[in-house]
Amino acid sequence: MSTVSDLQNRALLEIAESADLQALDDLRVRYLGKKGEITAQLKSLGSMEPEQRRSFGQAVNAARDALNQAIGERRQALEAAALEQKLLREKVDVTLPGRGERRGGLHPVTMAMERAIGIFTKLGFDVATGPEVEDDHYNFESLNFPPHHPARAMHDTFYFGDGRLLRTHTSPVQIRVMEQSDPPYRIIAPGKVYRSDSDQTHTPMFHQIEGLLVGRGVSMADLKGVLHTFVNAFFERSLTMRFRPSYFPFTEPSAEVDIGWEKDDGSEPGWLEILGCGMVHPNVLRGCDVDPEEYTGYAFGMGIERLAMLRYGVTDLRQFFDNDLEFLKQFH
Ligand code: DAH
Repeated sequence: MSTVSDLQNRALLEIAESADLQALDDLRVRYLGKKGEITAQLKSLGSMEPEQRRSFGQAVNAARDALNQAIGERRQALEAAALEQKLLREKVDVTLPGRGERRGGLHPVTMAMERAIGIFTKLGFDVATGPEVEDDHYNFESLNFPPHHPARAMHDTFYFGDGRLLRTHTSPVQIRVMEQSDPPYRIIAPGKVYRSDSDQTHTPMFHQIEGLLVGRGVSMADLKGVLHTFVNAFFERSLTMRFRPSYFPFTEPSAEVDIGWEKDDGSEPGWLEILGCGMVHPNVLRGCDVDPEEYTGYAFGMGIERLAMLRYGVTDLRQFFDNDLEFLKQFH
């Protein structure tokens, strides 16, 4: 009898101290399983005297019931604790600050481009486009570059070797527009251009905006008016402008336009070249079946990176193409 109560006490103690469900189940097997210690006691009943068997049987049955109950209760407690742990682990702290959302922004060259397009479209210009892969005819010949003319050499052209080339300027779009319809024309042509040239102030790809306006009685004064309006709108201030005689095969007369620019360092204001322009050459008009006796027009072309550098105070052109986020973030 004392064996049974010892056994029961020991088992109850172990059950109470079992650390997890696995340990608890091991105890169940050890005491109540087929080969368990309590089960062994029950089996020993058969060899006992009836007198002894009765009271011993009651004691063993009582011990078995007590262990079963203790195991059941301990299991509930362990399960509850396990659930508690799990909930604690999976807890979401809704009061934590968010990780933050990083907003993208437009590239400064795109911003300058859109700004320029916006100004010209308000002035009544339509946007025209043309292919970046051109041929000699559109990039040079139709723009009045004679074969072997030195002006061609200035363009550092990328050739494909099969007669095609990467356009070196947006001027070929002038030709494509004039070929497609009758005058008058009033378009701008923004886009990428390519030249085999790379240093602090040149990149192999850059952006230009071309302008073309052809109609009856169009004069150089119209050109000056439009460009002055554009420049003042783009830089949001009243700038002085200078037309300096220049040469382009596709315009006559031709000019380069400088703006008076005050540097941040307080030094004397200087002239900065920002674009090329002129009156469309009669040869160019004629090549597109436009009668130069009836129609005149002006054209201009400018580099967008140049405008963006001036407007946003960027000193190294190459920063536009490094894609350094710290640099780009400043323009958002
Ligand atoms: N196509 C010239 C260049 O890339 C820029 C230019 C000058 C365009 C005069 C024009 C113009 O339309 O009239 O250097």
